[in-house]
Amino acid sequence: MEKSTASKFNKVARIYNTPIFQFYYLFAHKSCINFIKNTIKDNYKILDVACGTGIFLKKINKIKSGLHLSGIDNSEQMISIANKQQDVISFGVASAEKIPFEDNSFDLVTIIDAFYYFQDKKAALSECSRVLKPNQYLFLFYPAFDILPKFILKQIQITSRLLFFNLEEYSALPRLSEVEKIATENHLKTIKKKMLGMHRFILFKKI
Ligand SMILES: C[S@@+](CC[C@H](N)C(=O)[O-])C[C@H]1O[C@@H](n2cnc3c(N)ncnc32)[C@H](O)[C@@H]1O
Repeated sequence: MEKSTASKFNKVARIYNTPIFQFYYLFAHKSCINFIKNTIKDNYKILDVACGTGIFLKKINKIKSGLHLSGIDNSEQMISIANKQQDVISFGVASAEKIPFEDNSFDLVTIIDAFYYFQDKKAALSECSRVLKPNQYLFLFYPAFDILPKFILKQIQITSRLLFFNLEEYSALPRLSEVEKIATENHLKTIKKKMLGMHRFILFKKI
């Protein structure tokens, strides 16, 4: 699925920053920033995993100066757009399951609206934990489609196919208890979580 996810996003990259997509992210990113802004301290090193066209990091860059921001995504086209018209944030093509950074490198790792796409969610959380410094943070944000009854999920998938996406990945979304179990196995302890408008916000601390 990973290769086809990358090729799917390569195809939509060109229109990803247009209002049809970004209307949703206007609210989603704002809620994410509200949830984590008190966690972000001066000079923090932040990695956004599956950063897409980098819009979330560009917003983070505006809330505090002196942050060290990096983003990775496995779609070359999304990263090519992320790199355009800016030289402050470092973006690169890489997979969440194999993050090209050293152990204990970051103060905050974020995964925004992408977790359900990861083919190997255990490997991705293990990698996020590995690159985090001890006592630092992982933030996960995703639509909580795991709580929907199967027939409603099916309707959403049919509708999404009529638009741009086949959201089959939503069916592979583990329940919250399973996500927290994988996190615990990777030394990540939930310290704050909330649901807002069918979306989950979870902040983990590496212990
Ligand atoms: C819905 S977009 C969200 C992009 C971005 N986080 C945002 O908030 O705008 C999902 C992104 O996940 C990326 N992605 C999917 N699977 C991935 C993986 N295994 N490793 C890295 N990136 C991945 C896609 O290429 C896409 O850019």
